[in-house]
Amino acid sequence: MDLLKNLSASQPIGVFDSGIGGLTVAHAIANRLPFEQLIYFGDTAHLPYGDKSGDAIRYYSLKIAKFLLEQEAKMIVIACNSASTAASRVLAEFFPDQVHFVNVVDPLVEAVVSRNLKKVGIIATKATISSGVYQQQLKQAQPDLEVFALATPLLVPMIEEGYADSRISQPIIDNYLSDPGFENMDALLLACTHYPLIRQEIEDYFQGKVEVLDSTLVATDAVYDSLERSNLLSTSLQTPHQFYVSDHTPSFEATTKLFYGAEIQLKHFPLW
Ligand code: DGL
Repeated sequence: MDLLKNLSASQPIGVFDSGIGGLTVAHAIANRLPFEQLIYFGDTAHLPYGDKSGDAIRYYSLKIAKFLLEQEAKMIVIACNSASTAASRVLAEFFPDQVHFVNVVDPLVEAVVSRNLKKVGIIATKATISSGVYQQQLKQAQPDLEVFALATPLLVPMIEEGYADSRISQPIIDNYLSDPGFENMDALLLACTHYPLIRQEIEDYFQGKVEVLDSTLVATDAVYDSLERSNLLSTSLQTPHQFYVSDHTPSFEATTKLFYGAEIQLKHFPLW
């Protein structure tokens, strides 16, 4: 029993994203914590969040968190950088002492700071870059760190449409990464939960000279640590994961395998 919040280990973990990109995070959590039940919500009706205003993303995130709390989530993982940067604070304020929140930004910032690097690059959606949250948190944690951040809005639709690792993806990735701002950096942060799908292409571009960091594994560690600290880790087998989307199309169903690495069944939940 979590003393603070009356939560118990047998309750599920809620995970949400603007769509199916957050399935990369859900998959990493499911692998690392096989006894946890996941309730995933992809807000496909509003995808992409990366082009939305902060206010719109906060409104969507609050409603999704309420839905996940109704499903009795003990923890809510914000598996989307655009939602993590826009809505983490507002979610914690709206639902104090009810549920544990994990976002994908804080663990990545901690991973950078622990490496004591000189210069990092960030690629992400327009919403994430223009929020300035990564830039501020990194500067605050390590004032001498040089940060270059670039919005790369073509990458999400390219990946969603199945063009990762194709003749189309290479020139788009090259075009973004050849920006002079990325010169002499030690690491590049993939600050979008879609980007693990093009991680290999990005690593190939830098030929091993730049460390590529994404939030998938560090966020999973944060989930584990937070549950362990609160004595909320489940140790016995749970009921199957549930995957909900706010709009259901055959194309979402077809791309889920790409993101989750296994067949899953999406259920339509009309939240809006
Ligand atoms: N996966 C989302 C993120 O991490 C981006 C997708 C979108 O723009 O909705 O920011």
